[in-house]
Amino acid sequence: MVVAHHRTDSLTRHTADRAAARLETAGYRIDLLDLHTEGFDPRMNVADQPDWGNREKTYSDEVRAHMQRIVDADVVVAVFPVYWQSVPALLKGWIDRVWNYGFAYGRSRPRLTGKRMLWLGLAGATADDPVVEGMHSILETNLSEGIAYYCGFSRSTVGLLTDAEERPQRLDAEGNLLVGEAVTGAEREAQYAALDRRAREFVDRFAAE
Ligand SMILES: Cc1cc2nc3c(=O)[nH]c(=O)nc-3n(C[C@H](O)[C@H](O)[C@H](O)COP(=O)(O)O)c2cc1C
Repeated sequence: MVVAHHRTDSLTRHTADRAAARLETAGYRIDLLDLHTEGFDPRMNVADQPDWGNREKTYSDEVRAHMQRIVDADVVVAVFPVYWQSVPALLKGWIDRVWNYGFAYGRSRPRLTGKRMLWLGLAGATADDPVVEGMHSILETNLSEGIAYYCGFSRSTVGLLTDAEERPQRLDAEGNLLVGEAVTGAEREAQYAALDRRAREFVDRFAAE
């Protein structure tokens, strides 16, 4: 379970904790990797940049420890806030540095073959925002096609959790961001309960496959 958020009291972390608990109930053992808490540096560096002439390159100790954690997992679940219709830099940098040449790709028998991946992205957009369909499609193309399947995963899917903000946001026809009133009280409880329920459905469906 890979969490990419800078606050441990975030909705993202809450969603990850619930997903982990759900998977534990389904019989999984969880390795929780909170990238920010563990101090992961998402910046590419010389030690971890791929050497296209040497797929056996020995990467940094930190990256090799992360590689081992992925090898040890049957299933990888990434939980993150959607930033600019993509993953936050923290998660992107983890993929850039750790899912590296000779390990995740570049072999006739990739080491991650057969693993399964669920990407749970929390998005501020409301479910009825026309931007959501395209956002989901972009995330599937980028994360499932461009990353997971490229690295030999047998299954990858994006669970997009809209309505992650307490103040609904959408663009009007002129491109102005309209930020609505914060929902409160019972309405707020219902909004978060619905998000929890949708997240649970994604996790249950994934676990059952
Ligand atoms: C830099 C940044 C970029 C964002 N980009 C998007 C976006 O492209 N689409 C979207 O629906 N929400 C976007 N959001 C809203 C976040 O997805 C939302 O704040 C987050 O999922 C809420 O979860 P959290 O409370 O755990 O941070 C963005 C937020 C930030 C800070």
